[in-house]
Amino acid sequence: MKRPSDVTQEIASLSRDLTSVLKVLADRGESALPAEPESAAVAVSPVAVVETGMGEIELPPTDLGKEARMESLRQQAMECRRCRLAKERQKVVFGVGSSSARVVLVGEGPGANEDRTGEPFVGRAGQLLNRMLATIGMDRKEVYIANIVKCRPPRNRDPEPDEIAACRPFLDAQLETLRPEVILALGRPAAQSLLNDQRPLGQLRSVVHKLGKVALLVTYHPAFLLRNPARKAAAWEDLQLLVDVMVSKGVCGALPEPWWRP
Ligand code: URA
Repeated sequence: MKRPSDVTQEIASLSRDLTSVLKVLADRGESALPAEPESAAVAVSPVAVVETGMGEIELPPTDLGKEARMESLRQQAMECRRCRLAKERQKVVFGVGSSSARVVLVGEGPGANEDRTGEPFVGRAGQLLNRMLATIGMDRKEVYIANIVKCRPPRNRDPEPDEIAACRPFLDAQLETLRPEVILALGRPAAQSLLNDQRPLGQLRSVVHKLGKVALLVTYHPAFLLRNPARKAAAWEDLQLLVDVMVSKGVCGALPEPWWRP
């Protein structure tokens, strides 16, 4: 049983937390506590500004609506100079897709084609990704596609931990805005970073992880599959698991036939 002094301390701490939440809401001009979120939420702290140590990101108010919030984040990303990747980029690759998407795909970082066009997954890996989506009856317009870093790492090297950390508030804010049901991490850097788990990709796939209330699945990066076609069969299993999770969450309705099974 807790001692009375522990209970008093706990109440004092809860009261401080509540006071800071109310202050943030008052600063945003809100006079009531927000209603329960409509769907799955990614756990983020109730602050209006995220301090990365490299510059602040302003979280747009929740009453703006998803499209306007995403646009506000996009504008901030366009001007971002929080890490060294900003120096050599041609375009910031913020993300693309429907703001009502219930599935979000997260890749590693832009390559040359993406850096030139400003859109994620438009090169050969992107074409394979489109085909992978088509095999489960989906079009890239139905999902949202983002990366863990929004600027191209030189010579397509893996993003460094400090670059990932500098960009993470943007990804968190995108996920918090979209509130997807399912996230599919494409490749090791995305999976390890989202799950904060350094195990190899082989140990992270075939499992339905949780990121807050959101289901998170892991599969091979399409660029890896282009180099290692023998792993496509395993990626196909991952996509079947994705479909199973989507069906269980009502994202794609009950498919009439489990046609993806042999
Ligand atoms: N690879 C990625 O991880 N992301 C892209 O946008 C393109 C290639």
